[in-house]
Amino acid sequence: MTRNELIAALPKAELHIHIEGTFEPELMFEIARRNGVKIPYANVDEVRAAYDFHNLQSFLDIYYAGAAVLLYERDFYDLTRAYLLRCREDNVTHTEIFFDPQTHTARGVAFETVLNGIERACREAQEKWGISSCLIMCFLRHLSEESAFETLAQALPFRDKITAVGLDSSEVGHPPAKFKRVFAKAREHGFLAVAHAGEEGPPQYVYEALDLLKVTRIDHGVRSAEDDALMHRLVELQIPLTVCPLSNLKLKVVNDLSRHNLRHMLQRGVLVTVNSDDPAYFGGYVNQNFIELAEALDLSNDDIRILCKNSFKASFISDAEKKAWYRHIDETV
Ligand code: HPA
Ligand code: ZN
Repeated sequence: MTRNELIAALPKAELHIHIEGTFEPELMFEIARRNGVKIPYANVDEVRAAYDFHNLQSFLDIYYAGAAVLLYERDFYDLTRAYLLRCREDNVTHTEIFFDPQTHTARGVAFETVLNGIERACREAQEKWGISSCLIMCFLRHLSEESAFETLAQALPFRDKITAVGLDSSEVGHPPAKFKRVFAKAREHGFLAVAHAGEEGPPQYVYEALDLLKVTRIDHGVRSAEDDALMHRLVELQIPLTVCPLSNLKLKVVNDLSRHNLRHMLQRGVLVTVNSDDPAYFGGYVNQNFIELAEALDLSNDDIRILCKNSFKASFISDAEKKAWYRHIDETV
C-alpha cells in the first residue's frame, strides 16, 4: 500500500475540530440566503480569496464573521452533518467536536439551539454511519471570566451531552490562569478539561493549562518543544498534543511544513496526534493534513500507524474501544 492509500484506509479519531471552522463557503451562502443575512462577499470565490491569514487573530476575525449567519437549530444541524459526512469520507470513526457557545449566545441565539442542532447530527451519524462523537464546549479566552461562568451555568442543564470544557480564541494576552476558577468549577461538575496552549503563546501557557486548569490534553502545544523540561513532562505523563499541521502553516505558526516539529516530537515519544482545526479555512480535512505533513516530513508508514493509534489513545473513549481500534489499525494491511 502506498502511504496515501494507507492514510485513507486507516481508521482515525479527530480530537481538534471547531465545528464553526468546518463552515464551507457554499453552505455559508446557502444558509445566509435562507436566513436573509447579508455577507460581504459576492460569491464563494471571493470568500475563499479572503482566507489569506497572517496570524491567529486575522483568521479569528473572519471566522467569527462567518459564524454570524448561523441562527436556527437547522443551521447547526446542517453544519455538523456536513462535517460528519467528511468524517465518513476520511475514515474518521470517532470525533471530539469543539463548539463556541459564546459566539452564538452573544448574538441572541439560545445555547439550546446550538447544542440541539449539533447533537442531532451527531446522533444520526452514529446511527447511520457508525461514527461516534462527543462534544467539547470551549470558552472564548478573549472574553471575561464572568462570561465563561455564565456559559458554564447555561451548560449545566445539558451536562450529560457535553464531555469536556476547552479554551480557544486569541491566545497571547489571555493566559490560562485567567480561567482557573471556571475550570475548577467545571471539573467539580464532572467535565473533563482541555485547552489551547502553545500555539502562538509561550510554553508557560502550557504549564498553566496543566497546573492551573488541570487539563488532560493540550490543543496545539507545538511551542512546548522550546522547553526541554516541559517536553520531558509531556513524554513522562503521556499528555497528548492535538497538533494541526495545515492550521499551523496557514496561521504562520510555521513558515513551511517541512519545518514542522511534529516528527521531532513523535521521535521523542510525545503523544502527538494530527487534526484539522478549521478545515474550511485552512485547506484540508484530516486526511489532507496527514498527506501534506507526511510528504513534507517524509513520514514512514509506521509513523502513520502510530499517529492513528495515538488519535484513539488520546481520545475520551473507553480502554476497550481503544483496543478494538488498535486491532483494526494492525489488521489494515
Ligand atoms: N486557536 C484558537 N482559537 C481557535 C482556533 C485556533 O486554532 N480555531 C478556532 N478557534
Ligand atoms: Zn483550534
